[in-house]
Amino acid sequence: MPLTKGVKKTAFSLQLFFAICLPSINAWATEPSPARQTEIRNLLKNDCGACHGLTLQGGMGPALLPEKLAGKSDELLVTTILEGRKGTAMPPWKPFLQRDEVVWLLGVLRVIMP
Ligand code: HEC
Repeated sequence: MPLTKGVKKTAFSLQLFFAICLPSINAWATEPSPARQTEIRNLLKNDCGACHGLTLQGGMGPALLPEKLAGKSDELLVTTILEGRKGTAMPPWKPFLQRDEVVWLLGVLRVIMP
């Protein structure tokens, strides 16, 4: 029956659309604006860099290079950046960064070139 086949095909294409396109649309929605991305990159260099090293290879704080972060979960690292770590020099960045921005920043850290 060609009609059923057509309907099935459409349903399959729709499924593909939702599976492939929606997650990326969602990723765009939470990405900071280009201007804000520049601000956050500056914060990373000037503020985070003060402790983690200008090239993030470590200093007073540990290195934040992709291979160092690879084994650690997004949840742990996002919480560390938002809340800081009590009893250490790592301060909370909640007053300056939204959660979405920290998630984006962590994405940058995970792929950054030294
Ligand atoms: C005043 C110094 C200081 C500044 C500024 C600072 N950090 Fe940290 N950070 C630390 C220290 C020290 C640690 C290690 C804490 C510990 O012993 O667990 C740390 C830990 C971390 C960790 C966890 C690393 C791991 O391997 O578990 C992340 C991620 C991190 N910092 C990101 C940032 C980001 C992003 C910024 C800027 C927005 C920043 N830090 C600014 C001192 C700092």
